Amino acid sequence: MPLVAILAGDGIGPEVTAEARRVLEALDLGIDFEEGLVGGAGYRGAGHPLPPATLDLAKRADGVLFGAVGDPACDALERAMRPEQAILGLRKELGLFANLRPATLFEGLEDAAALRPDVARDIDMVILRELTGDVYFGEKGLRTTGEGLRQGYDVMAYDEAEVRRIAIVGFEMAMRRKKRLHSVDKANVLETSQLWRDVVNEVATGYPEVALIHMYADNAAMQLVRHPGQFDVMVTGNMFGDILSDLASMCVGSIGMLPSAALREWAGACGLYEPIHGSAPDIAGQGKANPCAAILSAAMLLRHSLDMPEPADRIETAVAAAIAGGARTPDLGGTLSTSAMGDAVLAGLA
Ligand code: NAD
Ligand code: IPM
Ligand code: MN
Repeated sequence: MPLVAILAGDGIGPEVTAEARRVLEALDLGIDFEEGLVGGAGYRGAGHPLPPATLDLAKRADGVLFGAVGDPACDALERAMRPEQAILGLRKELGLFANLRPATLFEGLEDAAALRPDVARDIDMVILRELTGDVYFGEKGLRTTGEGLRQGYDVMAYDEAEVRRIAIVGFEMAMRRKKRLHSVDKANVLETSQLWRDVVNEVATGYPEVALIHMYADNAAMQLVRHPGQFDVMVTGNMFGDILSDLASMCVGSIGMLPSAALREWAGACGLYEPIHGSAPDIAGQGKANPCAAILSAAMLLRHSLDMPEPADRIETAVAAAIAGGARTPDLGGTLSTSAMGDAVLAGLA
């Protein structure tokens, strides 16, 4: 029996994860579920944002369904004890360097998108975000300058092997889709990005069928709003990918709609699946959160880690049907509660 670890975390994490689990259970796939404490809940319940038992569970599992971590009450803790360290630690410990963040406009959501419907209409893209390197994982600290000023620093670095493996995933994805790959960097300013660009060009020689377009990150942000239909697969570093995926989410209606998969291998290996959003303390505990991103993340788990593409398709079709039928949480301009939205998806499964 496949084992799925449920790490619900903080804020709306448990609310949206409960709906995703309900959908998985309704499909009756013979999955074993085991819950673990993580984030602020881990710190309070077991003294650490990523308790050893939770890391062990994630390593034993065939897939991890993750909610969100982050708790304003923990913001004053030393960094190592903050909830966010749990997700960074899981990504690093499990070697999950490839983060797929698909952004697709569901039929009927044109009115919810922050763009004009005619601009939003064609969006069907994947942001491929490198997830275990960049400024997130470089040397960091607080020091005192020669002038006696406090100075914070975070080193941005990528080695060529890290760039090569994510670039290969980007080209492989492009080959399965529209054979068009945008690589986003800041090579006009950053040495890290110049190496990124050079290595992506090297990998490109093995994929002559793929049209490769390099784009600076600031322009990419603008182009995502101006003409998002030009993008199909966009490969980029950890920080640019974080920012651009939140931006892409509003192009298709809500941050509550974007799932993600964090992988070390394309298929068959344990991956971590989570909505791209956070713990949303402003709406936590009110039943207002949109569970679609979490539910769609469960579909990605079935597809990439459990080799169950048919039930994955069924979930995605059910979400599309619920949306097309007018089901809307408040972020989409509606009034449904989190669990009522879950009900609407379940109805689509039947
Ligand atoms: P956030 O994504 O939690 O929320 C941003 C805004 O989007 C809020 O107004 C929120 O209400 C709304 N929102 C988010 N998800 C929604 C959903 N499913 N349905 C409806 N509305 C939704 O980002 P933030 O406020 O910058 O961060 C809050 C906390 O979450 C912080 O502690 C942050 O570090 C953490 N965080 C964690 C993850 C993660 O666990 N992977 C991701 C992002 C942020
Ligand atoms: C995300 C989040 C995380 C990130 C934080 C919580 C560490 O914003 O998953 O998008 O920056 O990767
Ligand atoms: Mn983010």
